[in-house]
Amino acid sequence: MDQAEKLRSMVKSQEGATKEPAKRLARVITVTSGKGGVGKSSIAINLAMQFRKKGKSVIIFDADFGLANIEVMFGAIPKYNLADMIFRGKGFKDIIVEGPEGIGFISGGSGINGLGNMNREQVQYLVYKLKELETLADIIIIDTGAGISDSVLEFVASSGEVILVTTPEPTSITDSYALLKALNARESFDAEICKIKVIANRVLNYDEGKNLFSKLEVVVTKFLNINLSFLGVIPMDMNMSKSIMQQKPVTMAYPNSAGAKAIERITEGLLENKEAEGPKRNSLARAVANIIKNGFKSK
Ligand SMILES: Nc1ncnc2c1ncn2[C@@H]1O[C@H](COP(=O)(O)OP(=O)(O)OP(=O)(O)O)[C@@H](O)[C@H]1O
Ligand SMILES: [Mg+2]
Repeated sequence: MDQAEKLRSMVKSQEGATKEPAKRLARVITVTSGKGGVGKSSIAINLAMQFRKKGKSVIIFDADFGLANIEVMFGAIPKYNLADMIFRGKGFKDIIVEGPEGIGFISGGSGINGLGNMNREQVQYLVYKLKELETLADIIIIDTGAGISDSVLEFVASSGEVILVTTPEPTSITDSYALLKALNARESFDAEICKIKVIANRVLNYDEGKNLFSKLEVVVTKFLNINLSFLGVIPMDMNMSKSIMQQKPVTMAYPNSAGAKAIERITEGLLENKEAEGPKRNSLARAVANIIKNGFKSK
């Protein structure tokens, strides 16, 4: 058995081991984009706030290992991150910090970069812990970095539900297409399981957002085996950037602003969407397991 095979069988046996008793798994929503700076983190945080308002427990997992942007927007800096759990024996109670409204927040830190160097026991432990995490909240929102790095694609491919954020800038549309193309080519991606929902952010009006979606949909339907759905628009709203300066989500600082209202409508749409209530997979655990496997493969 090579190392990748060993890992696969290890992850499989883990899956079997945790099958009973069946626990309720979180709905995992991954927020991503082709281009950077389009509003992923703002959307992740404000969706979390809106889900909280509807009585859901929420954890945000910051898988953007570059900049600590959720931390800044949240005004809650975690003392420990995922790497501290894997390598230094910290538990969820140490690495989950509580932000506004009791939203949990976990920083991936530089943990994922070190995943390829983990030994067998560490991998086992991480996958096991991530499965546990998926029983701790109703909803887990993963905020990814932009672009088509392996780890972003793996988080996206492993999620049942993906929010793709795009804006009217021409490069944002082409970068969204590039991300979907890379995703489509990925072994672990299954268009039947992974539903991709588009938000048009920073638009002037609904029509601009809808047109933006239609443009993307035309090329995606023509060239890729992916179905997109339209989740809605968020208008250009200066309150969104103002609230960041105040380190508060716009939903909290300006609850009646156009941006906050748009995110509220999007959240309601997501909650009405019954398809997401279907069979769940341990998506976080799967993502990390796949990142590790691919890391081993490419060595
Ligand atoms: N609808 C909006 N109207 C006005 N400004 C917005 C809107 N959405 C996001 N912004 C602003 O755009 C900037 C980038 O947003 P954000 O950091 O959420 O993007 P990101 O996609 O997470 O970026 P990165 O790729 O760097 O992680 C922020 O200053 C934010 O306030
Ligand atoms: Mg971000």
